[in-house]
Amino acid sequence: MGIRLIKIAVVYFVIGVLLGMYMSISHSYDYASVHAHVNLLGWASLALAGVIYHIFPAAGESTFGKVHFWLHNIGLPIMMIGLFLLMSGVEPVEPVIAVGGILVTLGVLAFLYNVFTQVKK
Ligand code: HEM
Ligand code: HEM
Repeated sequence: MGIRLIKIAVVYFVIGVLLGMYMSISHSYDYASVHAHVNLLGWASLALAGVIYHIFPAAGESTFGKVHFWLHNIGLPIMMIGLFLLMSGVEPVEPVIAVGGILVTLGVLAFLYNVFTQVKK
């Protein structure tokens, strides 16, 4: 679980950095919020969770670990693609972003429970 999350995180890192380069080169900062969340909810958060699950395999293999994995990894692409479309002017997509954000939030709550119950000395 940990290693899978680290690999997924690196993909978000590449997408986030490419978007940052695009904004810098084009001097168009419309996608800054997509860039920020791809980097922070994608790269940083998933890599950190991956490292935690690798150090504490009981947390990585638990039911709540799997629930966290799937909610975060289904919700985040929905939220990021939705936010990208919104920033491109597709306004009706807003509820889709909300669905993605709620899935990620539920995933993070599962992560909280998982860390508090499974991460031990
Ligand atoms: C080659 C790498 C990167 C480039 C070229 C880049 C470029 C940019 C640019 C052009 C902006 C918009 C600034 C503005 O709106 O005034 C931005 C915002 C931002 N970047 Fe990056 N970035 C890079 C990597 C990263 C990484 C690795 C992270 C986080 C782990 C990150 C986090 C952020 C955040 C949080 C913002 C929003 C800041 C705000 O709204 O005030 N960036 N970046
Ligand atoms: C489901 C989770 C999250 C939701 C729904 C969310 C939502 C938002 C919203 C609505 C904004 C204001 C955007 C704007 O008007 O520019 C924002 C900004 C920001 N958020 Fe989040 N956020 C989430 C998670 C996070 C996390 C986990 C981090 C950091 C680890 C983070 C870092 C930031 C930063 C740095 C900004 C300001 C940069 C920018 O968007 O220009 N967010 N977030």
